[in-house]
Amino acid sequence: MPYDIAIIPGDGIGTEVVDRSMPVVEAAAGACDVPFETTRYDWGSERYLEEGSMMPEDGLDELRDHDAIFLGAVGHPDVPDHVTLRGLRLRITKGFQQHVCKRPTYLFEGITSPLRDHEAGDIDFVVYRQNTEGEYADVGGREHRGHDHELAVQSAVFTRHGTETIVRAAFEAATEREGKLTNVTKSNAQAYGMVFWDDVVDEVGEEYPEIEVERLLVDAASMDFVRRPDEFDVLVASNLFGDILTDIGAGISGSMGLAPSTNIDPSGEHPSMFEPVHGSAFDIMGEGIANPIGTVLSWELLWEHLDEPAVGRALRSAVEAQLADADAPRTPDIGGDAGTEEVAEDLRARID
Ligand code: NAI
Ligand code: MG
Repeated sequence: MPYDIAIIPGDGIGTEVVDRSMPVVEAAAGACDVPFETTRYDWGSERYLEEGSMMPEDGLDELRDHDAIFLGAVGHPDVPDHVTLRGLRLRITKGFQQHVCKRPTYLFEGITSPLRDHEAGDIDFVVYRQNTEGEYADVGGREHRGHDHELAVQSAVFTRHGTETIVRAAFEAATEREGKLTNVTKSNAQAYGMVFWDDVVDEVGEEYPEIEVERLLVDAASMDFVRRPDEFDVLVASNLFGDILTDIGAGISGSMGLAPSTNIDPSGEHPSMFEPVHGSAFDIMGEGIANPIGTVLSWELLWEHLDEPAVGRALRSAVEAQLADADAPRTPDIGGDAGTEEVAEDLRARID
């Protein structure tokens, strides 16, 4: 039976990188004899502007039976960001209980970090970001709109299930990697949710006595991402902190355009979703110069998740070989002058 994958290209460069990467993904799956079919859903901001919603009311039901979902990005200059994000990506991550957002950061050979003295492989860590609650919980409200005493309340929500799930995933990853876990919170200032989070890390940690746990406040962690990124291996953080830290990770490893991401339901009850970290990039959309590598590396993670690691490895090898090749085409974000299509075509040719 071929795998059945839902594809939501979304908006802006999301559609560009998703469409251009498909021949690369098809080549890798073909080379490994792994058949797959796709269903494309043209959901996103154009739909919102025409019909008033980013995706259909019963959209989750349409996605439910697929083996996995691939998302480009959402975001449109004419639609408020909270509408695009909440109307599609958050509906899926929350609706499908995709608690675990795993985001690797890796400095590839051939990429120059903006940080001095870092060679390929020196920066190599994975952030486990809580993906369904925390600071992005839909809990709050606004009152007295337009009056002097207008107020807004935005509550962060930490449940035992949501916290334990991400913490356990991070400990498991630490077991498979270097036996080290960095827990990033802000428990000096946020004495309820974040202290609870630290308690859960201590509790779950008792089951993993061999794992060395480091604790950092998020402000110090942000500094250390710049000062000593080579010392990190597995990190665990809340939704907001993980979001911010992984943008720093993308920056220090060369480009936002290289960074992959996953949204995983560890129970396996719902499909998981894969996407590049970046958004729809208003500043370059339509120019055909978006870097497709973050998308290709997200497909690597998708195939790993579906237990087809050979397809993932084929994609990653092509990326590694291309980046290490000084004569290969590259997009402007990593110092070249090639377009999305040329880079993708070169990747495809390396697989064939
Ligand atoms: P962004 O990630 O779209 O862009 C940030 C910067 O990185 C821009 O200078 C952009 O040109 C560059 N960049 C991003 N991806 C690139 C690629 N593949 N190749 C080359 N350069 C790349 O973030 P921004 O500008 O804050 O947000 C734009 C829109 O995207 C907003 O509507 C935002 O809400 C949305 N967004 C959506 C996300 C999602 O769908 N998961 C994630 C982040 C933002
Ligand atoms: Mg982000």
